Amino acid sequence: MAPTTPTTSEFRLALGQFATGVTVVTAERAPGRVHGMTANSFTSVSLDPLLILICVSQNAQLLPLVKRQKRFGVNVLKDNQRAISEYFARTEESDQAEKRLGIRYRWTETGIPLLEKALVHLACNVVASHAAGDHTIFVAEVESVEVYDGEPLLYLRGNYRPVAR
Ligand SMILES: Cc1cc2nc3c(=O)[nH]c(=O)nc-3n(C[C@H](O)[C@H](O)[C@H](O)COP(=O)(O)O)c2cc1C
Repeated sequence: MAPTTPTTSEFRLALGQFATGVTVVTAERAPGRVHGMTANSFTSVSLDPLLILICVSQNAQLLPLVKRQKRFGVNVLKDNQRAISEYFARTEESDQAEKRLGIRYRWTETGIPLLEKALVHLACNVVASHAAGDHTIFVAEVESVEVYDGEPLLYLRGNYRPVAR
């Protein structure tokens, strides 16, 4: 018998068994202004050159920004930054909400925005993009990396978790 095509929920359930960290991808939306999007589709691709990839939904406000700017920041979140992940997984962003959550940005000399207090900062320049179903895959070269003290936030089976000690 031919196998039946998995349903979306079967696919989600299966892929949800694969534990990831959580990132916020940051891009310039207007001069000096930042848009962020929570993403766990972040993957290391190549060591020579240093390449990573992210997958961005065709519906995401982030998509046209990354297409236009061709650069973005990847900010790996700490275990105490769950509220920040939830905030950037919503479509509405506001200065008041960002102030309440203590969200602040800094910029690289090359004009890439980064989220302060993240565990890891990667400043990235897009080298290729590929439309794939309802997402676009962006492959980007990493121009700078910073790692700070702390533990990562994890995402597994649709829930946030700290690393077990
Ligand atoms: C843990 C987590 C991981 C996510 N990963 C991705 C992702 O890799 N790519 C994506 O397009 N959306 C992802 N999302 C959904 C977006 O964060 C969400 O749809 C967001 O509202 C879209 O951003 P926008 O404000 O740019 O439209 C994720 C959400 C969560 C909670």
